[in-house]
Amino acid sequence: MKTRADFGLLLMCASYLLCSCSAFYLPGLAPVSFCKGVKDGDDCQNLIQLFVNRLDSVESVLPYEYDVFDFCHDDKERRPSENLGQVLFGERIETSPYKFRFNETVECKTVCTKTYKKGAKEDAEKLDFLKRGMQLNYQHHWIVDNMPVTWCYDVDDGQKYCNPGFPIGCYVTPQGRAKDACVINAEFNRKHTFYVFNHVDIKITYHSGAREGWRGARLVAATLEPKSINHQDESNPVCRGGTPMDVFGDLDDDLKITYTYSVRYEENNDIKWASRWDYILVSMPHTNIQWFSIMNSLVIVLFLSGMVAMIMLRTLHKDIARYNQVDQEDAQEESGWKQVHGDVFRPPRKGMLLSVFLGQGTQIFIMTFITLFLACLGFLSPANRGALMTCAVVLWVLLGTPAGYVSARLYKTFGGEKWKTNVLLTALLCPGIIFADFFLMNLILWVEGSSAAIPFGTLVAILALWFGISVPLTFLGAYFGFKKPAIEQPVRTNQIPRQIPEQSFFTKPIPGIVMGGILPFGCIFIQLFFILNSIWSHQMYYMFGFLFLVFIILLITCSEATVLLCYFHLCAEDYHWWWRSFLTSGFTAVYLFVYAIHYFFSKLQIIGAASTILYFGYTIIMVLIFFLFTGTIGFFSSFWFVNKIYSVVKVD
Ligand SMILES: *[C@@H]1O[C@H](CO)[C@@H](O)[C@H](O)[C@H]1NC(C)=O
Repeated sequence: MKTRADFGLLLMCASYLLCSCSAFYLPGLAPVSFCKGVKDGDDCQNLIQLFVNRLDSVESVLPYEYDVFDFCHDDKERRPSENLGQVLFGERIETSPYKFRFNETVECKTVCTKTYKKGAKEDAEKLDFLKRGMQLNYQHHWIVDNMPVTWCYDVDDGQKYCNPGFPIGCYVTPQGRAKDACVINAEFNRKHTFYVFNHVDIKITYHSGAREGWRGARLVAATLEPKSINHQDESNPVCRGGTPMDVFGDLDDDLKITYTYSVRYEENNDIKWASRWDYILVSMPHTNIQWFSIMNSLVIVLFLSGMVAMIMLRTLHKDIARYNQVDQEDAQEESGWKQVHGDVFRPPRKGMLLSVFLGQGTQIFIMTFITLFLACLGFLSPANRGALMTCAVVLWVLLGTPAGYVSARLYKTFGGEKWKTNVLLTALLCPGIIFADFFLMNLILWVEGSSAAIPFGTLVAILALWFGISVPLTFLGAYFGFKKPAIEQPVRTNQIPRQIPEQSFFTKPIPGIVMGGILPFGCIFIQLFFILNSIWSHQMYYMFGFLFLVFIILLITCSEATVLLCYFHLCAEDYHWWWRSFLTSGFTAVYLFVYAIHYFFSKLQIIGAASTILYFGYTIIMVLIFFLFTGTIGFFSSFWFVNKIYSVVKVD
């Protein structure tokens, strides 16, 4: 009793520590103080450096580095270091020539002037790339003090929407249709014209520490408004009024684009530094839809749980009744599933592949669980750039041991003898498929010159993580798995397989599997929409609390649906349940794939072969991971269920 109390206390302490930790600042996320008119020191900074991230577009999967475009560059300074997650997601942060001093208003300052000479081939190419970027609606992503510079504008219902990015320009098609970016000015209406957004009005909001007794101020928001202004005199620009900076047709004269900016400061002591991201996240709609989706999923869960509970009670009831009349030798009265007791643990065909899938599924399951749990506690918020991806990758690498163990132990239980093949496949099969897919996509990105292309060094680092850490850990797990005895089964398997009776349509394998995935998918598809949106439309995803709930709901529905179908099949005296339970819940991944195709055609405006190939390349990786994940959940719940029911039934 005492140890249990101790354990409880320990758990409480641990959770308290974990929760209070989130109140501390993670490295790189500590607040920075800014002061006016001082030299940059450790405790107070004066210079505000604006960083630029890669540019992306909703209409293309390919992100491009800032450098690739012909904007104003800052080549003196080193780029800040990035973590693995950022590199994998194609983020490329660079310093920019936009630098300003805290609390010093800037009025219309020139950054640089780009000249495009008539007839110069190189200049024409640069300008074409810029035009193409405007045509595809590419967006800037600027960063000040580790927070995105947002562009806030009114949306239909009188609300403000703050976009953590802004377009590089707007394009009006020859038919007179304007891109979304043109909303900022109704005068942008000349056909087949590009309006370059060459001026930005930046507003920086700060929280002053004067009243709270700390030195300087902390930045709590940075917003901007892009503008298009044709500066007549680059050395003496005027940033109000004027004509827009438009480009149309071929160059019949030299073209000059002058980039300028203005900065002003605003004090706002109501916004706390710790909640400075809230205005971006709050302006994103859909919290209601989230609750609706959770309610919808809960209804499904309740319905399934009711069914499962009913069946469990009924079976148990029947079993008890049967035990009571054991002497009467009423063999015909036995219910269906007991008849197959001599076959139900007959090892499956292709046991090797199944055990490999289950090993890797376990690895993915634990990785997802821990990542989501940490995200839910707020460790992996969008403020901590790339942390989510880094965390997932590192966890996956470290979780090789459970994968090897599960795979080896199950393989042994299935009576397999080729243990070397088993270990190698566990370590290499699915990661290999994913890596190959990833590598092919990377080749396309390289050819296209996109910033999402992983540098060679990172590729080598990924391979090193895989072969240097993950594979040995898998071997270690497999060693322990093979050393343990095979999992003991509650009933003996007969020598001769039993004939499976003719099945009705619904207990045939394929319809059962197809049906099995529907309910779990029904629980997640609304959430899925937001996840796909955050990946492909570059919206920030922050609802990890919801996601964790959905994860739990998915876990419950997958297991219950599979157990239910497994029970029906056993009742119909079909004892091939191993693969079937894996595939039943794994089929959710097929629905995911169908949904991704639907999303591609209905929500995205992606054009171009490279983008399309990339979209489906990434989708296949997601689907494969999801297949292993859901399949594993279904398998282990059925495994537990079958073991349970055959261990309580008495077999002579
Ligand atoms: C910023 O400047 C304004 C006016 O120049 C001044 O009132 C304010 O106190 C300054 N804030 C800080 C934190 O220096």
